[in-house]
Amino acid sequence: MKRLMLYCVLIFTTPFVITGCGNNAGNTTTTADSTAKKGITKAAWGNYDGKEVFLFTLTNAKGNQVKISNYGGTVTSWVAPDKSGAKNSIVLGYDSLSGYLAHPPYFGATVGRYGNRIGNAQFTLEGKTYKLAANNGKNSLHGGLKGFDKQVWDASTASDSIPSLTLKYTSKDGEEGFPGNLSVTVQYTLSDDDELKLEYSATTDKATPINLTNHSYFNLTGDVSNTILNHKLQINADNYTPVDTSLITTGVIAPVKGTPFDFTTPTAIGTRIDLVKGGYDHNFVLNSKGGTLQQAATLTDSVSGRKLEVFTTEPGLQFYTGNFLDGSLTNHDGKAIKQHTALCMETQHFPDSPNKPQFPSCILKPGETYHTVTVYKLSVGQ
Ligand code: BGC
Repeated sequence: MKRLMLYCVLIFTTPFVITGCGNNAGNTTTTADSTAKKGITKAAWGNYDGKEVFLFTLTNAKGNQVKISNYGGTVTSWVAPDKSGAKNSIVLGYDSLSGYLAHPPYFGATVGRYGNRIGNAQFTLEGKTYKLAANNGKNSLHGGLKGFDKQVWDASTASDSIPSLTLKYTSKDGEEGFPGNLSVTVQYTLSDDDELKLEYSATTDKATPINLTNHSYFNLTGDVSNTILNHKLQINADNYTPVDTSLITTGVIAPVKGTPFDFTTPTAIGTRIDLVKGGYDHNFVLNSKGGTLQQAATLTDSVSGRKLEVFTTEPGLQFYTGNFLDGSLTNHDGKAIKQHTALCMETQHFPDSPNKPQFPSCILKPGETYHTVTVYKLSVGQ
């Protein structure tokens, strides 16, 4: 109780923070609070692993909102108007922590220590072989059994010119089989131009693979009754990384020209999806090669008039068309999430890089700082 009172005093003395006392689990993700002012609010959202979980709401000057939880660094909703002014969320998500504790397939999560797959759930680094949990057939997927998406992160907020949330997590040496104590920070900001910026940094005390990404599932119509097959996508990638039957990269970098993977010009996702066994679940080799913040992809939807542009410093982009969504889960509005009703654009290093020396290195060494930036920019036309 004492803690609750102290918390209330703190939030009422902090500029921009306008709500936040009490157990505000009913703060729904489907609609934006039209009275909300620019800034960031914090609401209690439950407990996990003996730690307090919060739901943060970032509101920009237009009144558009992104909600993020410190459970898994999860983006639970992103509410903005469509071309007619109607507001709904362009990402899949839940209104309560319990939805996430049931382990949906990484909805909105921060994925780590190694996003995507590591073949045969093992890798050799500096002469030592490290064994990971095989949580995806014989492979390791998205950091293992209890990856960063299932951890409670320490949170702090700021409301300078734009609202920001900073989450920190220290992954212990040996956690999920990975070497080194890894200190990770993810900062989320929402600009008045509807840019959701994700800035990742990390340091380690032993050499380790690292590949951090955000796993938001987008449907620009904001309604999973519609598939994403009519969304148009353009990816700045002349090459992609083909995979074997267990979705492990073969090590080849292949041209997209003349294949269903050619998204160099805006193309409706459904046009050639039937030619790709299982649907798209592939890493694209960005022409930028990574290192500097450059445009990776543009997604548009004529029904809502929304456009989502992706910028990243990463060399790769996993384009996943929600192939394994099967209608058994429901979105925050209660609608069934069926196959191809949402898509992911996960900025990253290439899958299975720890075992593919020909790919850009994902190894972070002591004394170095991992630093990557990804920006999702939302806009609406007519
Ligand atoms: C992977 C998919 C996987 C999904 C959910 C994506 O990043 O590429 O194969 O099913 O995550 O785990």
